[in-house]
Amino acid sequence: MDNEVFRVEGVSKMFGAFQALNDVSLGVRHGEVLAIIGPNGAGKTTFVNIVSGVFGPSRGRVLLEGADITAFSPQRRTRLGLSRTFQITSLFGGMTVAEHMQLAVRGGDTLGHERAELLEEMGLAGSAPRPVDTLSHGDQRILEMAMAMATKPKVLLLDEPTAGMSVAETDTMIRLICDRLRGKVGVIIIEHDMSVVTQTSDRVTVLAAGAVAASGSPEAVLRDPLVKELYLGSAAGH
Ligand SMILES: Nc1ncnc2c1ncn2[C@@H]1O[C@H](COP(=O)(O)OP(=O)(O)OP(=O)(O)O)[C@@H](O)[C@H]1O
Ligand SMILES: [Mg+2]
Repeated sequence: MDNEVFRVEGVSKMFGAFQALNDVSLGVRHGEVLAIIGPNGAGKTTFVNIVSGVFGPSRGRVLLEGADITAFSPQRRTRLGLSRTFQITSLFGGMTVAEHMQLAVRGGDTLGHERAELLEEMGLAGSAPRPVDTLSHGDQRILEMAMAMATKPKVLLLDEPTAGMSVAETDTMIRLICDRLRGKVGVIIIEHDMSVVTQTSDRVTVLAAGAVAASGSPEAVLRDPLVKELYLGSAAGH
């Protein structure tokens, strides 16, 4: 595929005798936002863990700019340009926003003024001296994104970035993804909220029972009767 920065090829994952992923292949182009959706238990978190290097696939390969990174640690992936949003649990309550930005780029090449610019763009400049545990939940998640951006990623993995957010915080996150990420880096977003998916994504891939069930434009995929059926039972409450 033209301009592709990231690809998983034939990825399967067994947990004992249980197959959580079955021969999943997909790619992301530079600047493209790809949403991965799917009902509960579809394998989304398993996919995120394989992409970010928490554990390896049973079969298949993970490629960054065509290079095989399947066996690389999460840290090494980050250094090569594959970042994921940090989990809230990885923020240190007593430390400030500015200190977190420094932590994120330890060993990296983002300069102080670049970090300040990032905070400015993310609307967090005024919060730089604040301990992170005084931030709202939404601002903590935006800080996670700023930290991931500070590593200058080529591909950014966002794992349910709007989970637990208020409507206003969700709108801010949507705007950040569209203005700051879309068109600039490859993005994979795992998202339950279909309104976030349609507002941020260029393409949607549906996982169901560990396999790709559909793929295409958000409009086409969400209109697909098969996808509607998949969602009727398990995701009706989301
Ligand atoms: N470590 C594990 N050992 C055994 N089974 C697992 C393990 N991790 C996940 N599974 C199973 O693999 C399947 C996929 O799980 P996964 O967490 O990837 O789904 P998901 O799409 O993230 O679901 P959700 O929307 O609920 O977060 C589920 O049936 C789950 O029970
Ligand atoms: Mg999950």
